[in-house]
Amino acid sequence: MHIPSLIERKREGGELSREEIQRVIRDFTSGEMPDYQMSALAMAIFFRGMSTEETAALTEAMLHSGSTLKWPDSAPMRVDKHSTGGIGDKTSLIIAPLLACDGVWVPMISGRGLGITGGTLDKLDSIPGFRTQMSEVEIRRVIEKHGCVMVGQTGDICPADKKLYALRDVSGTVPSIPLITASILCKKLAEGLDRLILDVKYGSGAFMQTEAAAHELAQSMVQTGRALGVRASVHLNRMDEPTGESAGNALEVAEAVRCLKGEGPPDLEKIVLDLCAAVSISSRQQLHDVLHSGKAWVKFQQMVAAQGGDVAALERMTEIHHAPVIQEVKAEHAGVIRRMDARAIGQAVLELGAGRARSGDSIDYAVGCDQIAKTGSEVAFGDVLIRVHARSPAAAEAAEAMIRSGIQIE
Ligand code: URA
Repeated sequence: MHIPSLIERKREGGELSREEIQRVIRDFTSGEMPDYQMSALAMAIFFRGMSTEETAALTEAMLHSGSTLKWPDSAPMRVDKHSTGGIGDKTSLIIAPLLACDGVWVPMISGRGLGITGGTLDKLDSIPGFRTQMSEVEIRRVIEKHGCVMVGQTGDICPADKKLYALRDVSGTVPSIPLITASILCKKLAEGLDRLILDVKYGSGAFMQTEAAAHELAQSMVQTGRALGVRASVHLNRMDEPTGESAGNALEVAEAVRCLKGEGPPDLEKIVLDLCAAVSISSRQQLHDVLHSGKAWVKFQQMVAAQGGDVAALERMTEIHHAPVIQEVKAEHAGVIRRMDARAIGQAVLELGAGRARSGDSIDYAVGCDQIAKTGSEVAFGDVLIRVHARSPAAAEAAEAMIRSGIQIE
């Protein structure tokens, strides 16, 4: 196969065959195809796009570049949720145990936060002792016993995606719909799923800024999933303000625990139930009742214990990870909150140290924001709009200034 002609064909808007895509991914993963050719091809795909057939072939080739989780024929239906990332999005921590209470298996392979968006693995890492790196044998053991497991990608799963994502990151080719579709779906398909619910976010705090862009990504993921035999459904959700009332790792685990006890903020509980109902055989009301019965909370504790985590710590997360400075940001006049900008809060939380500017940076589990007021609520002069948890007064001041630039009260 002559790679330059293939790159030229894509550059001119032509199609690549399934066999050509398979070969490209095989040679790129083994190192036979150099990075400069792969980045040129990624750029051609960025400008020219891919058909559903090409995207499905790319997803399949990346999926088969490594191992996949295998389940016995007698196993219950496997279900998962994928979110395209946002601020304060702790829904996975609630969804996995809630769906497991429903009798399905949830083998959730999650990612770390990058940039302003948080990552489920970082939140889980704030639980003392919790292990997110597990072998396939251990993953199987936990799921067979408890019905859910939450882990990071093992080295064997989709190595082609790992390599290609790193290349896209430094070649300006991340925001390409077919490349994002293949990257997300190959990792989800490696879980051996029957059903997938995709939570595609749009708005100031999301990867996709507009509803139209989110819709395009959603369509691509549903069509590609269907072509590969997985029933994928999509919810488009706004991400103009944070989900729930907190953003930051330990603060979000504490809020997820409240939600698992049926005491979560209404917007968080709503999105959890909406997403679970889309893939569950139970009705939304039944899922609501399970959440409020405490069964999902028990299931979460069982999963945490099975993965080495300290269950007693779950109710003391903000004591274990305690930021020395807690600063209240108060309303400077009365009115209705019109904007509580997710991007400004996400950037502030990142700069407080809760996220990483580049992969490999260490993170601070204690810092972040809580008591985040919701848009549409009425406030009086001096009411607390949000609290900043910081390592120093200077960091708290800088975060407050950033957050204030994204608040509008009329
Ligand atoms: N998340 C992924 O896993 N891959 C992408 O390409 C974008 C977001």
